[in-house]
Amino acid sequence: MKLLVTGGAGFIGSNFIHYMLGTHPDVQIVNMDALTYAGNLENLAAVSGDARYTFVKGDIAEAAEVDEIFAAHSFDAVLNFAAESHVDRSLHHGAAAFIRANVLGTQLLLDAARERGVPRFVQISTDEVYGSLGPEGAFSESTPVAPNNPYAATKAGADFLALAAHRSHGLDVVITRCSNNYGPYQFPEKLIPLMIGNALEDKPLPVYGDGLHVRDWLYVEDHCSAIDAVLQRGRTGEVYNIGGMNDVPNLHVVKTLLQSLGKPESLIQFVKDRPGHDRRYAMDATRMRDELGWSPRYTFEEGLKRTVDWYLANGEWLARVRSGVYESYYERMYAGR
Ligand code: NAD
Ligand code: TYD
Repeated sequence: MKLLVTGGAGFIGSNFIHYMLGTHPDVQIVNMDALTYAGNLENLAAVSGDARYTFVKGDIAEAAEVDEIFAAHSFDAVLNFAAESHVDRSLHHGAAAFIRANVLGTQLLLDAARERGVPRFVQISTDEVYGSLGPEGAFSESTPVAPNNPYAATKAGADFLALAAHRSHGLDVVITRCSNNYGPYQFPEKLIPLMIGNALEDKPLPVYGDGLHVRDWLYVEDHCSAIDAVLQRGRTGEVYNIGGMNDVPNLHVVKTLLQSLGKPESLIQFVKDRPGHDRRYAMDATRMRDELGWSPRYTFEEGLKRTVDWYLANGEWLARVRSGVYESYYERMYAGR
């Protein structure tokens, strides 16, 4: 089986490549990644010599680069992880890059997959397309899509384009919508690695608003096994919700991290809220369980422990990623907040 993985140098894509090479001896993977600020080939150093793995630097929003890669390989499936992925950047640093990568990039991949007759296209989407929940209930696949920030809106746009390619042209498309991931190689602009990095340096931990916003956390390896199940057995034209069944307020996550790092709660600093901040996400993953037999392997406590241990053991990775450009990003995002 030969797979095109886009965005494979990012957080989830790199974990997926490790997972697939580790569990499928006969798989071949071509990783197409533009290496934006979030793409890091260090995440794939351990597999760079594996004959089953090839890296191609390329931009999914450049038609010529997409055509070139589809002309050079005959893929059995495309898995589109490539995206601009950080909500705060989409709110404060301009949404145009999100429209380009997430919407235009997805359409160019869909077109190429159709022209070349690729048998399966898996679009990696997010629970954020559903918008925000009240105090009760969970998102199901039939919940109306109602995104509240530019990142979520572009991911919703990509989902609609993927479904349109299926309905209009018969392309075999499957969409996964997952809740918040955490684990190794996550870029430290996202909640969990940002808080670990700050706590280790005894810097304030910036919690938005009252800290009672709820996210449903899933350990990244469980997301990878879910995508594998959808790739192999998902029904064409369907959406699959993936979740951890661990909906907890941000403050709980931050306090748990401080405890496991032996740092004081006095490091917590409440800062100005994110505009349009979704109050609560929770996923109903019944379809994944009943149809595909998938369930998460790790509890939140186990996953968080593995994550903290990984960041402690990979201090150099974290220090390198947090230096340079990240420092000026952090300054711009949090100054005066
Ligand atoms: P990430 O920001 O860590 O990685 C994104 C990767 O895509 C980077 O390697 C980057 O270089 C690459 N990329 C960006 N634009 C590109 C382009 N135009 N062409 C080629 N490569 C490009 O993101 P992530 O957290 O790993 O998320 C991966 C996917 O999973 C995204 O589609 C995201 O929407 C989705 N998702 C993420 C989460 C989460 O909690 N992180 C949850 C659900 C779904
Ligand atoms: P994030 O990791 O950015 O993921 P998403 O916005 O996709 O859910 O944020 C997770 C939650 O943590 C979200 O409710 C915003 C909050 N948050 C903070 O309170 N402080 C921070 O510095 C960051 C980055 C996020």
